[in-house]
Amino acid sequence: MILLKTVNSTNTYIKENINSLADRSIVIAESQTGGRGRFGRTFVSESGGLYMSLLLKNVKTDMLTVCGGVSVADVLCGIGADVKIKWVNDVYCKGKKVCGILAEAVNGNAIIGIGVNVKHSDSLPDVAYSLEKLYGINIDTLALGKMIADKFFEYVNDTDIIDRYRYYTSHMIGKRVAYNNGDGIVKCVTDNGNLSVINANGDEITLYSGEISVKMEID
Ligand code: BTN
Repeated sequence: MILLKTVNSTNTYIKENINSLADRSIVIAESQTGGRGRFGRTFVSESGGLYMSLLLKNVKTDMLTVCGGVSVADVLCGIGADVKIKWVNDVYCKGKKVCGILAEAVNGNAIIGIGVNVKHSDSLPDVAYSLEKLYGINIDTLALGKMIADKFFEYVNDTDIIDRYRYYTSHMIGKRVAYNNGDGIVKCVTDNGNLSVINANGDEITLYSGEISVKMEID
């Protein structure tokens, strides 16, 4: 495990050092100065959170996003949180997003970046939330990172992972979601982890995880 005090982004760190890093490397930083989210968004990364990236060399990348979400959800459930996943990979507790995941592919290798709001930093406003604030959970970020990484590496070769993913996303079935150019009612999660939606014309369409994010109410 590589522990860094501060870094621009643990995902970027792996990208820049990919040739010298071993398969299944784990990189954790106390804070990030340029934390990145999906679709080029910024991911606020003050100290007190878990900022971790995992490297898998020479893998098929299609189900890794799903594996990441399920690993985080399982571990958070195990320490007393109630967890929902909003497709594709936002982990919610009590209606608040506590974790985001950014999976990136680099020449047949995969980097899975996981950010979890663990502790409440004094510099954050009162409305900010964390596992500590939502549940009073006080867990060491490194211990949490290790548990999530272990789960993730266990699930990478699990061909039934989609069943666990469907469990955590089941709250979405029958609900309305808005996406880039429309809205519709969620029908199911497909075997590949895509989202099947019935649109306003009654047509069934598939939303592909790499391209689209959805908006919906989460309670
Ligand atoms: C999202 O919510 O859009 C995804 C956020 C992913 C954040 C994690 S923190 C560790 C890793 N390093 C980054 O720069 N991003 C990911």
